[in-house]
Amino acid sequence: MMHLTQIKIISTGKYVPKKILTNGDLEKMVETSNEWIVSRTGIKERRIAEKESATDMAYFAALDALGQSKLNKNDIDLIIVASITGEQMTPSVANHVQKMLNIKHCMSFDVNAACTGYVYALEVAASLIQSGSYKHALVIGSEKLSNVLDYTDRNTCILFGDGAGATIIQKSENHQAYFYNQSKGDETDALTVKKYIKMDGRKVFLFAVDVMKKSIVKILDDAQLTIDDIDVIIPHQANLRIIQSVAKSLQIDLDKFEINLQNYGNTSAASIPIALDEYAKKNKQAKNVLLVGFGGGFTWGSAILQIN
Ligand code: UT7
Repeated sequence: MMHLTQIKIISTGKYVPKKILTNGDLEKMVETSNEWIVSRTGIKERRIAEKESATDMAYFAALDALGQSKLNKNDIDLIIVASITGEQMTPSVANHVQKMLNIKHCMSFDVNAACTGYVYALEVAASLIQSGSYKHALVIGSEKLSNVLDYTDRNTCILFGDGAGATIIQKSENHQAYFYNQSKGDETDALTVKKYIKMDGRKVFLFAVDVMKKSIVKILDDAQLTIDDIDVIIPHQANLRIIQSVAKSLQIDLDKFEINLQNYGNTSAASIPIALDEYAKKNKQAKNVLLVGFGGGFTWGSAILQIN
């Protein structure tokens, strides 16, 4: 099944906490080394939220996205936040963001699809806009993963960081946005969060390479485009070796991928919107972007859409 909507991204924003946790800092906390982390993952440092909650970071990213647009905050009538690290079961992070922005009339809710959450949220928002019931959607990925990390477990604590990315989308007859999101329920133990993140790293790695390749091929096929029509691929920022492996096997130049995991580590649902924002701020021309993610569940997905 192909999912086509007529929407475009009109602005992006991000927020990352100031505090930096380097590989050198982690060497003092667990039995690891900068050399191991860089060679196995590509990550050099990550941000850690001290005072900020996932809601605060979502709000700051939303303010950035609103500031980059010509919209008034009351033009927003839909807020969807992708997160697995909100402070409460309810109200949702999105409800809190609505309150902090003081938006009177809107629908707001969260999506939980782990690291694929933002791509899921974008498809849901695009569908609701396509229905004609909503005009401007604020779609956010925000995570405070430091809250669910066991800093004595070297298998996980070196990988993740905190941050938020936000996007505003609206209907546009001249633009076409394609989505492909999937999940499978037979690998629910490979990556879980109860109190802490627990993960079978090798299993997730192999799954990630496989579904990222398939998701890129599928969405290009749906859109009837080739990789040369795409200006940038924004992948989930989990591990440089995963991205390199996908690039090599699909024979795509690594330069086509926006990569910032060296600075932030894996920020789960925030990783794609943060990278998208950094790309958009560096490249002001209209661009065809391909998003591709994977995560616990397992979940995975891709999208092709236009920005500006
Ligand atoms: O958003 C989705 C989230 N998850 C992911 O994307 C994770 C995907 N998986 C990965 O990125 C990689 O599997 C890891 C980076 C987690 C691990 O890399 P790997 O090359 O798959 O290593 P491994 O798990 O096979 O471990 C190799 C060795 C082991 O030692 P032995 O058994 O060979 O003696 C580990 O105990 O490396 C050891 N090790 C470490 N050594 C130093 C594991 N973590 C560390 C560490 N520092 N932090």
